[in-house]
Amino acid sequence: MQKASEAVAYTLKEMSDYARPGMTTKQLDDYGAQILADLGARSAPYVTYGFPGWTCISVNNEFCHGIPSDSRILQEGDLVNIDVSAELHGFWSDNGSSFVLGEDIHHHQHLVAASKQILHKAIYSIKGGVRLSDIGQLMETEAKKRGYKVIRNLTGHGIGRGLHEEPHEIANYRDRYNLTRFRKNSVVAIETFISTTSTYAETLKDGWTMVGNKGGFMAQHEHTIVVTDGEPIVLTERNGVWN
Ligand code: CO
Ligand code: CO
Repeated sequence: MQKASEAVAYTLKEMSDYARPGMTTKQLDDYGAQILADLGARSAPYVTYGFPGWTCISVNNEFCHGIPSDSRILQEGDLVNIDVSAELHGFWSDNGSSFVLGEDIHHHQHLVAASKQILHKAIYSIKGGVRLSDIGQLMETEAKKRGYKVIRNLTGHGIGRGLHEEPHEIANYRDRYNLTRFRKNSVVAIETFISTTSTYAETLKDGWTMVGNKGGFMAQHEHTIVVTDGEPIVLTERNGVWN
């Protein structure tokens, strides 16, 4: 899990540093694909779902699962989300990050910072025995405090021998019917879905890209972690999301 996590974290960090205004999202994806290939890792969305790209790159009104494209040119101030997940030697890891490209001329940084803070707070509240719904409540409460909403139909998930494993839905809100607890020594991908106006994500006609039911913007940050009795081990720490 450590090796697979280092591969996706390193790829995400390199791609985020490489992104520049004027570049297409396809160029950025090709750059990431080469890094994954050099590390011997296979793109999870491509292998698992036949996604038309190696990483998901979503820009501005696109919330997630954006398809890398020759016609999508990154611009100064764009809100960019890159999600990198991959398999290495039979183990799978997942991480993602939203950031503002260049100067923050459209004022997205407050949303980005909120999402990072909420991910940090959520992760360091997780240990064996804690209910998933308590973490969901924490995330929604922290989002509200900052003037934001959470997306209710996007979730974190268990991960390890596959991209998505039990528990399948680690929601960003209090799902009172979910009595599941985090288990010590299990591996989970924890992700935030913090939004300005929408509470649901909907799929566009391309069959992949998701946007908000009420528009606006969303920031996502994701780490793959090992649950312990105390502080979790953040396997994808080197992706630089905390920096
Ligand atoms: Co994930
Ligand atoms: Co992901």
